Amino acid sequence: MCGIIAYKGFRDGVNIVLEGLKLLEYRGYDSWGIAAKNEDIHVFKEVGKIGEIKKVNLLRSNICMGHTRWSTTGAVTKENSHPHLSCDNKIAVIHNGIIENYEELKKQLKNHNFASETDTEVIPHLIEENINLGFFEAVKKAANLIEGRSAFIAINKDNDEMIAVRTGAPLILGIGNNEYFIASDVPAFLDYTKDVNYLDDNEMVVIKDHPNFFNFRTGEEIKKRLITISWDKEQSKKGDYKHYLIKEIMEQKETINKAINQDEQEIQKIADEINNAFGTFFVGCGTSGKVCHAGEYLFSKIAKKHVNFVIASEFSNYHHFLTDETLMIVVTQSGETADVIEAIEAAKKENVKIISLVNVQGSTISLKSDYSLLVKAGPEKAVASTKTATSQLALLLLLAYASIGKLKEGKRLLIETSSMINDMLNLRYEEHIKRLAELIHKKEHAYIIGKSSNYPMALESAIKIQEVSYMHAEGFAAGELKHGPIALIEKNTPCIALVANDETKKDVLVNAQELKTRGAYIIGVAPEYNKIFDYWIKVPDAGDASPIVNIIPIQILSYHLALLRGHDPDYPRNLAKGVTVK
Ligand code: M6R
Repeated sequence: MCGIIAYKGFRDGVNIVLEGLKLLEYRGYDSWGIAAKNEDIHVFKEVGKIGEIKKVNLLRSNICMGHTRWSTTGAVTKENSHPHLSCDNKIAVIHNGIIENYEELKKQLKNHNFASETDTEVIPHLIEENINLGFFEAVKKAANLIEGRSAFIAINKDNDEMIAVRTGAPLILGIGNNEYFIASDVPAFLDYTKDVNYLDDNEMVVIKDHPNFFNFRTGEEIKKRLITISWDKEQSKKGDYKHYLIKEIMEQKETINKAINQDEQEIQKIADEINNAFGTFFVGCGTSGKVCHAGEYLFSKIAKKHVNFVIASEFSNYHHFLTDETLMIVVTQSGETADVIEAIEAAKKENVKIISLVNVQGSTISLKSDYSLLVKAGPEKAVASTKTATSQLALLLLLAYASIGKLKEGKRLLIETSSMINDMLNLRYEEHIKRLAELIHKKEHAYIIGKSSNYPMALESAIKIQEVSYMHAEGFAAGELKHGPIALIEKNTPCIALVANDETKKDVLVNAQELKTRGAYIIGVAPEYNKIFDYWIKVPDAGDASPIVNIIPIQILSYHLALLRGHDPDYPRNLAKGVTVK
């Protein structure tokens, strides 16, 4: 995905857009660019991250917009970075998403000169092609012609309108005092306003003196509801931390408590829906998918109830089992993940009820759900998901307890867990894990084992280590290694055992011993010491909440491995925070 931000008002928009782009950089960091309108439209583009850039060579402008790119169509070059212009340089466009029919549209625009390989560039040319209808009508026509999920903003040298269109990717209008902001995510303009309108699919907003909303398919004018968002502007900044990743890991001192601070009746209602459904699917991708997988174990263990965990991109295989009595619980941080949206659309065809646990308020998935519960982890900027994952786990655990009428007991457990995490996350603890990172950072491989709800956490540990440190890491169900993967173990191969103080403990320790016998260096993440461990990372004994506490040291380890291996932990290569492509 990409990040877009635009400003129209009385201040110098160039700086506002530049600073906004820095806050959106988590959405894509291949290249970036800004268009500023004065007498003409002037464009500045660069390849690479925005980083610490303080100023760009553009004149002051009250109508300005910028883009930070995660490339999909077209290589990472200056030419392919946004904004893109019409042939006469009068129309500039920034765009997030995919235009599925751009090749076809490009063929129809034979008389236009294209300067890039991108799908986006068809938009300014389409607008230019129809500009005789007026800017508004030309943008509306372009919006109706493009196919695929996206959002774009257009400005025109010849008038002072700014027009933004949503066809499936997020777009939020921030409303200040005689000034307006449009962005893919609210932190981009939180310094200026918390009052917003969320655009829905098929909507466009035209800002001249005031914003006017339209459905661009029907042409009908729309009234929008003003929403005041709850995120604090400081929450979305690094503060004293060097990286978002470690800041967000440390925020887990508070985020579990925030996550479970929900209306108890609402939690009970969702739990009842699960109890009454004829088949419940937990669906998510990546880390959120691992949370769903852990949720399957938590429901089995706590509620003695079977729910089905399915990776969103595999969900289509399950369509035979869907009826109007099926329930789908979707777990997502961004609320924009394309694979999840597709799974929801498949489920909706069979009248499946959709409940989502979403961290980003007003996101596409929350709008598409029958009911959406906010995870309340606050803005998560590092590409690697940490605090949101543990909050999602807390909510699934709470739902498992609620489904057997023990909501209060579940809440008590999570409040205790939260305070144990608070005690655990101190500097000494981080130093202890950093020392481990120093010992193993030059290794090529690492393996992680876990059982029951800690098995998905072993898989999640592997994602964390891979995505930020680029070390090869794999997670396994503890009992599975002896069926093949144990052949990979050599002298001093780091193997992490995620241990819970429950009925699984003995088995995991036996499996860890099998690895040790083959020369593995055993790192125990466990409430109690065991002589098998070559390195012990103590975690609190959190009972059923063990997957929550066990994943946290691995998040810290991944952070330090990334630093020691010379990588930026916030912006891993090839990735972006939200995966809005299939
Ligand atoms: O926004 P979502 O939770 O739907 O995102 C799903 C995955 O793309 C995400 O969890 C990804 O795996 C993270 N980079 C993992 O840290």
